[in-house]
Amino acid sequence: MAILVTGGTGYIGSHTVVQLLNDNREVVILDNLSNSKLCVLDRIKEITGKSVKFYKGDILNIDDIEKVFKENEIDAVIHFAGLKAVGESVAKPMYYYHNNVTGTLNLCNIMSKYNCKKIVFSSSATVYGKPKSVPISEDFPLSTTNPYGETKLMIERILSDIYVSDNDWSVCILRYFNPIGAHESGLMGEDPKGIPNNLLPYVARVAFGKYDHVNVFGNDYATHDGTGVRDYIHVVDLADAHLKAIDFAMANTGIDYFNIGTGIGYSVLDIIHAYEKAVGHPIKYEICQRRPGDIDECYANPEKALKVLGWKANFDIEKMCYDSANWQSKNPDGYGE
Ligand code: NAD
Ligand code: UFG
Repeated sequence: MAILVTGGTGYIGSHTVVQLLNDNREVVILDNLSNSKLCVLDRIKEITGKSVKFYKGDILNIDDIEKVFKENEIDAVIHFAGLKAVGESVAKPMYYYHNNVTGTLNLCNIMSKYNCKKIVFSSSATVYGKPKSVPISEDFPLSTTNPYGETKLMIERILSDIYVSDNDWSVCILRYFNPIGAHESGLMGEDPKGIPNNLLPYVARVAFGKYDHVNVFGNDYATHDGTGVRDYIHVVDLADAHLKAIDFAMANTGIDYFNIGTGIGYSVLDIIHAYEKAVGHPIKYEICQRRPGDIDECYANPEKALKVLGWKANFDIEKMCYDSANWQSKNPDGYGE
């Protein structure tokens, strides 16, 4: 009786595995380590005192997936494995469609073969495109602006069709807003390869002297200070949402969609100032051109997750920045080589 976590050594996956182990759930990880490192398993053990069963394997390889199902009794799957960089998806669309969409089809095929029909899927607020208003509710119109977002929307639709074809399935789609922060031990956090695309890891590197300043992508948006507003959520809160979602999937059949955010929007400058507080010194920034494709504001209406799953975010922006800074200061080179 185990939960398979695909992508379980990645940023959100590893934090979710810790919460699952702390809750005494049996966990099996499948990850090809394309964007994570094996030593994450040692960190998980250090935090939880437990070893987790790990398969190095690819969801593009049917045999890799099947081996996990043959050797374990998998009840349900939390499916994180995927590529996630928006810019890279524009440059390499086939790579993204193949990895994310074909990989998910392979996974669902094997799940079906082994009569495991409960899945929690990592979707994204990106499926709302440029929202007509904020806060965003689950029933807002869906659209995408890049191949990465398109893979998320396609997978949502594939999972919906699978449920329509077989009502024994239970599909829980979590649309994450902007995950940030790190485990409070400072042993696990986000470890982007190369120059980070996302705001928080970039701010963290400026704060600890790796880069000179933060480039603020535009200050002429329709927001309280002109810089882009997002719904930042602590990765541990996000991880906890998966425990609620898996319980919900185990207890029900159907397909459901949930926004996983705090419901609060912070601007780029708000974030820089919150981070300054966390580290106790000023952080240099420069206003520059807008980044193509960015929207003014994006934040969740998270009420459905509270009502149906009994989940809500607990950690505030101070804690998110503090934990991020703690991780960055203890691991200036991430997990290292
Ligand atoms: P991550 O890159 O840290 O983790 C993804 C993991 O999947 C990595 O460990 C990687 O090695 C693995 N993986 C990728 N392709 C694989 C394959 N073919 N076979 C096996 N393993 C594979 O990313 P994350 O931030 O933890 O994101 C997890 C999921 O959440 C992704 O699906 C992502 O699209 C989604 N998501 C992330 C964010 C975010 O801002 N971090 C926001 C919304 C949604
Ligand atoms: N920003 C900067 N400077 C930077 C990086 C970002 O000013 O160096 C700004 C952006 O313009 C935006 C905000 O900071 O206003 C947040 O940007 P991120 O890149 O951190 O996050 P996004 O909201 O653009 O995108 C994230 C994920 C996507 C996901 C989306 C919606 O990276 O994968 O949230 O969930 F699709």
